[in-house]
Amino acid sequence: MASKFARLVGLMGALAPAFAVPTNNSHQVSLPLPARTIVQMNQTVDFVENIAVSGSGDLVVTLFHPTASVYAVEKPLSDSPIMSLLHTFQDANGTTGIVEINPGIFVVATAFYQGLATPVANTTSFWELQWGGKGLPATVRRIDHAPKASLVNGITSIPGLKSAVLAVDGALGLIYRVNVITGVNQVVLDATELKPVPGSQLGLGANGIKIRDGYVYWSNTDAVSIYRTLIDSKGYPIRGAKVEKVVTIEGASGVDDFNFDRQGNIWAATNLDNTVVTIKPDGRREVVVGSPTELTVAGDTAVAFGRTAADKDIVYVTTCGAVASPVNGTITEPGKIVAIDAKGYY
Ligand SMILES: *[C@@H]1O[C@H](CO)[C@@H](O)[C@H](O)[C@H]1NC(C)=O
Ligand SMILES: *[C@@H]1O[C@H](CO)[C@@H](O)[C@H](O)[C@H]1NC(C)=O
Ligand SMILES: *[C@@H]1O[C@H](CO)[C@@H](O)[C@H](O)[C@H]1NC(C)=O
Ligand SMILES: *[C@@H]1O[C@H](CO)[C@@H](O)[C@H](O)[C@H]1NC(C)=O
Ligand SMILES: *[C@@H]1O[C@H](CO)[C@@H](O)[C@H](O)[C@H]1NC(C)=O
Repeated sequence: MASKFARLVGLMGALAPAFAVPTNNSHQVSLPLPARTIVQMNQTVDFVENIAVSGSGDLVVTLFHPTASVYAVEKPLSDSPIMSLLHTFQDANGTTGIVEINPGIFVVATAFYQGLATPVANTTSFWELQWGGKGLPATVRRIDHAPKASLVNGITSIPGLKSAVLAVDGALGLIYRVNVITGVNQVVLDATELKPVPGSQLGLGANGIKIRDGYVYWSNTDAVSIYRTLIDSKGYPIRGAKVEKVVTIEGASGVDDFNFDRQGNIWAATNLDNTVVTIKPDGRREVVVGSPTELTVAGDTAVAFGRTAADKDIVYVTTCGAVASPVNGTITEPGKIVAIDAKGYY
């Protein structure tokens, strides 16, 4: 893998240089928003891929590379956050999406990865990871070995439903609905807007997925765009509903995972540009943290919002250390978790 990974990384590093996303600052707080690193991994190749903020206030993050590991961070805003390894999956070497579906119960996707967008066929699985916090060990249960699935990336819970999740497959361009109790895994949407853009260098289509107000939203990395379509209360797309484009993040080189704040603004990790971009409901957008020449959120992969009174204004960002597109062409660092103080912004 090392050489193929290096080759892919080299390829990605050759992508066109980033342009600044137009800034349109109409609120009181000044930009960039304050940001500080909470914890950083040890090895340059440590690629933090996704994050679930538990209702308890703890963070649970997945590692995409070099091992299929899930880490927890307790007391993330304290002077000494406690980082611990919850689990390393043995029959995989990358974890991607993660979501908390019940207090302390998470769904995680795993596979063997030969490169950034190339899982090994027939190695994708969905797992339930149970963790009670407070330094306790985690237990895992395989929900489903999904033999036909390819690059399962983002996973989201379905509001009001504890028994199923939706997940995107960014290689095949599908949305799966996975019943976490029975393991039944159905393709519920197959759309061009989920697929890689033909001829793109990355070959990475749908990436993040979220549900809000009766719509399922997803980001498409190659298309640098976010799309949505109507779903019913059980998470099934409405038959015949159109796929709508929500936004193309003009000027950005890519879009990784994203999330909604309580005002309905989208916060997107651009990864290749080392920036976090917000998109207002009216389409206005601006860079709120980072720049192509900075390590602040270098190679940002996902964003998530604090859920407790203490961190309700904090936006947590995971990073891969710019491994896919080194800062200034050569600079990478171990992945990390950054806290953005967004007080006054939303
Ligand atoms: C992950 O597994 C794949 C398939 O066996 C292999 O090609 C790759 O080198 C592995 N990656 C790492 C970091 O060991
Ligand atoms: C990093 O290294 C330190 C010192 O060896 C160790 O205590 C810590 O657990 C390591 N962290 C990770 C995330 O591996
Ligand atoms: C897929 O993987 C499963 C479990 O590892 C194995 O039993 C099965 O034979 C594999 N199928 C193919 C077509 O390789
Ligand atoms: C910036 O805001 C103005 C006024 O709200 C709007 O007309 C304009 O289209 C916005 N520009 C961008 C790039 O979003
Ligand atoms: C990247 O290059 C710019 C321009 O030379 C410089 O200001 C910036 O500090 C560099 N970034 C890093 C992380 O070294």
